[in-house]
Amino acid sequence: MKLDITKAAQFLAAGEIEKFEAPVAAAQKALEEGTCPGNDFLGWMHLPSSITPEFIAEINETAKVMQENCDAVVVAGIGGSYLGARMVIDALSNSFGWLQDSKYPRILFAGNNIGEDYLSELVAYLKGVRFGVINISKSGTTTETAITFRLLKRMCEEQRGKDVAKKVIVAVTDAKKGAARTTADKEGYKSFIIPDNVGGRFSVLTPVGLLPIAVAGFDIAQLVKGAQDMEKECDLNVPFNENPAAVYAATRNAIYQSGKKIEILANYQPKLHNLGEWWKQLYGESEGKDGKGIFPASVDLTTDLHSMGQWIQDGERTIFETVVSVEQPNSTLAVPSDEENLDGLNFLAGKRIDEVNKMAELGTQLAHVDGGVPNLKVSIAKLDEYNIGQLIYFFEKACGISGLLLEVNPFNQPGVEAYKKNMFALLGKPGYEEATKEIQARL
Ligand code: PA5
Repeated sequence: MKLDITKAAQFLAAGEIEKFEAPVAAAQKALEEGTCPGNDFLGWMHLPSSITPEFIAEINETAKVMQENCDAVVVAGIGGSYLGARMVIDALSNSFGWLQDSKYPRILFAGNNIGEDYLSELVAYLKGVRFGVINISKSGTTTETAITFRLLKRMCEEQRGKDVAKKVIVAVTDAKKGAARTTADKEGYKSFIIPDNVGGRFSVLTPVGLLPIAVAGFDIAQLVKGAQDMEKECDLNVPFNENPAAVYAATRNAIYQSGKKIEILANYQPKLHNLGEWWKQLYGESEGKDGKGIFPASVDLTTDLHSMGQWIQDGERTIFETVVSVEQPNSTLAVPSDEENLDGLNFLAGKRIDEVNKMAELGTQLAHVDGGVPNLKVSIAKLDEYNIGQLIYFFEKACGISGLLLEVNPFNQPGVEAYKKNMFALLGKPGYEEATKEIQARL
């Protein structure tokens, strides 16, 4: 993985990035020594290097049982309990895989919304299908996930019988507390623990992400290897200029201080759409607090050049852009030649589709820079488990450092509670009687 900040640095006065060198070092030291705010949630820091081959084997074994017994597996989870798995599975899957027969179960995601149509359609789809469920919730009490799991548990038991259901329902949750733990223990489900000191959005390299990714047929050992190598590259002892997480965190904060409040993560591969969704949660939930924080947005290019492209090029100059670029595609396809050339495309005949894409990428980057949009570029060699593992740890480490540079606690999410309190009050949840009275007075 490479980080290129030259087209962002040109927007800043000399020394603007380097002035973060000392604060970045202090942030890294605080993360390492556990002296920063949120220091009870630093388990992600050395998570990759702590994963053993035995642990990977245990996850693969459970994945195998699900693969052998299911044609579809529903991952029930929300926020950090599904975005990482979805990002990795999408990045590595055939774009039209759902149209093909596969030896691995189809992975479906639910428990991340409360759409009645969504759930009804899911239930209708699963009718008669050999399906299993991975119920993922750290708290074990998240409403969206709990409603979905209640529906799917009953359906799985009715459709497949209690004994098979026991085999194909797996819980990923807290070691002791929460309804998901109580149910798993009572029903005798296989379960994996989400470590106490790893927050949801930093949990993709725990069984939260690893189990669904393994069930989908991908090599989690390589994913972890990529993260392990990046853990070394971003270590505290690596000099500032050679440490990609340090440089990314410093650059985005320098740009933020120069008045650009929005960062757009752009990709040129449709398979990376959910990288943007995962990254937005990681940065949005970690940094958006105390009236501060870069607003994380994402676009899929070139697709969105025909929608958001106008705004990026020409709208209010409050944005900067980070492009995630994939150097080599995994397949080969060229533009065909055409004798009649009715469409005038013969100037492209014989060129790889990716060459056209790369010229679009470069042309867009130069245009955006001309339009006043500082541009950073993160390049990976190809879309595979190893490179995605690198990206995961790079963005996580940079996020921890960046949040501390902003002087917020990057590891809590107090703002998420506000909607829950109102929703529970409106729904009459026991224990919320006072809140119900207060909210009714406002209606
Ligand atoms: O990052 C976070 O902590 C959150 O986004 C959680 O992952 C999300 O709210 C889901 O929580 P839980 O796993 O407790 O159901």
